[in-house]
Amino acid sequence: MGWITVTIRIVCLFTLLWSVNGIGVNWGTQASHLLPPDTVVRMLRENGIQKVKLFDADYGILKALGKTGIEVMVGIPNDMLASVGGSMKAAEKWVAKNVSEHISSNNVNIRYVAVGNEPFLKTYNGSYLHITLPALSNIQSALIKAGIGSQVKVTVPLNADVYASSNTYPSGGDFRTDIFDPMLKIVKFLNDSNSPFTVNIYPFISLYTDSNFPVEYAFFDGNATPLNDGGTLYYNMFDANLDTLAHALQKNGFGNLPIIVGEIGWPTDGDRNANIEYARRFNQGFMSHISGGKGTPMRPVPIDAYLFSLIDEDEKSIDPGNFERHWGIFYFDGQVKYPLNLGTTNSGALIPAKGVQYLERKWCVMKPSAPLDDPQVAQSVSYACGLADCTSLGYGTSCGNLDARGNISYAFNSYFQKNNQFEKACEFPNVSVITKTDPTPTVGNCKFPIMIQPYYESAGRRFGCGQMPLPLVSVLLLLLLTVVQH
Ligand SMILES: *[C@@H]1O[C@H](CO)[C@@H](O)[C@H](O)[C@H]1NC(C)=O
Ligand SMILES: *[C@@H]1O[C@H](CO)[C@@H](O)[C@H](O)[C@H]1NC(C)=O
Ligand SMILES: *[C@@H]1O[C@H](CO)[C@@H](O)[C@H](O)[C@H]1NC(C)=O
Ligand SMILES: *[C@@H]1O[C@H](CO)[C@@H](O)[C@H](O)[C@H]1NC(C)=O
Ligand SMILES: *[C@@H]1O[C@H](CO)[C@@H](O)[C@H](O)[C@H]1NC(C)=O
Repeated sequence: MGWITVTIRIVCLFTLLWSVNGIGVNWGTQASHLLPPDTVVRMLRENGIQKVKLFDADYGILKALGKTGIEVMVGIPNDMLASVGGSMKAAEKWVAKNVSEHISSNNVNIRYVAVGNEPFLKTYNGSYLHITLPALSNIQSALIKAGIGSQVKVTVPLNADVYASSNTYPSGGDFRTDIFDPMLKIVKFLNDSNSPFTVNIYPFISLYTDSNFPVEYAFFDGNATPLNDGGTLYYNMFDANLDTLAHALQKNGFGNLPIIVGEIGWPTDGDRNANIEYARRFNQGFMSHISGGKGTPMRPVPIDAYLFSLIDEDEKSIDPGNFERHWGIFYFDGQVKYPLNLGTTNSGALIPAKGVQYLERKWCVMKPSAPLDDPQVAQSVSYACGLADCTSLGYGTSCGNLDARGNISYAFNSYFQKNNQFEKACEFPNVSVITKTDPTPTVGNCKFPIMIQPYYESAGRRFGCGQMPLPLVSVLLLLLLTVVQH
């Protein structure tokens, strides 16, 4: 065999190794209408995505991931930290049910357990500060006891504000003073158990919260004025932020602790800086930035990262901002938002979900004869927006240019679709009507979506309030609304 063949084989081998080590995605499920797990898993495979990070351990999702080889990080939600941290029995049960069983009976490639999700966020007010390490430790012991301690590692996805720089340069990095001791204990535990540090890094949030933040510094095009840290130049926030962590670790004696980027991404709607153009620029820039495997100045090794996120979630809390429901590289229905080359498909393009089942092509809009000043209008809009999703309305968003009638129709339709096009969900008194004419404007990115068919899991899930069939909920709510108004 000639040397060219050998070279090609070596290149192929490396490509293969790289793809196994390649980009991961966060798969969240805070949505009113979820795509069936099998549909999502097929989409992952067709897009060559080899790693997923989950926020819990949903039975149906793990079942669908079985025998696919896709690496999985399962999660323990913050509200379970007290129970698994407080009782070894509870930790063992969690591991048996949510890890061991899936590995042994269904060959799910579980590699990590994420213990908590950003438990040290300031908004949690320290609630999880002293329970995270016990939870981490109990889960680790349970994994070892179950005989899977070397195959499945623990970690804690932390927000990037657990560390800070004393002088704005990465070299000034250290753990935040108010949580210094707990952080050090966690880091020592991770180091001793051969586990990685996981951090979520969000240049978008920096831009959102600080209007003076230099926009170019959020991206990877090298157009920003670099930060000169004692001769090391930083051209983007991501590198500087990751190295602030690397310095913090090094300063405390853990310079070799591996780092995973648990979440990184850019939203496409809900804010003037959250749009398709910026999201594409950021995510594509990030992919190119890490594709050479050269890492950052402090960590010149390939970066292990999970994009946030795979699919939009219309029930995420909008307390942090309206952009929260628009982080997906795919829309809620698995359709592609913008061209993005993850380096994992032959065509270099994203591949949409296949076989998606939609509801009928009909919409709920404002009745053309209803006057704008009908007193029912404002009330109805605020009711619809409160229960459905109006985060694409407002300054600088995808539907921000609608006129008043368009605006009102958007709100009505959102509520109608979320309630599975149930007729009663389009009975805003005298001001709404169901139409088969698509109200989507012909120019711009604004969409009046048709909802997908609701998917009801067959097994493993309780019917809580959140799972009550939507039509029933809406009948109750509309009844309530009617009673209140009369
Ligand atoms: C397994 O995980 C699910 C989903 O997070 C959770 O509801 C359940 O309580 C866990 N099972 C055990 C035995 O802890
Ligand atoms: C946070 O903790 C402080 C002091 O313990 C308390 O005064 C405050 O009300 C708490 N805030 C929240 C949101 O829990
Ligand atoms: C980190 O772990 C390594 C072995 O895995 C050990 O040699 C080293 O002493 C640990 N570092 C600290 C600061 O505990
Ligand atoms: C449309 O709705 C948004 C959000 O509810 C509001 O900020 C905006 O002013 C409305 N626009 C018009 C033209 O009514
Ligand atoms: C709807 O319109 C009718 C006739 O125009 C009127 O009699 C009725 O009171 C209106 N209903 C409501 C709830 O506004």
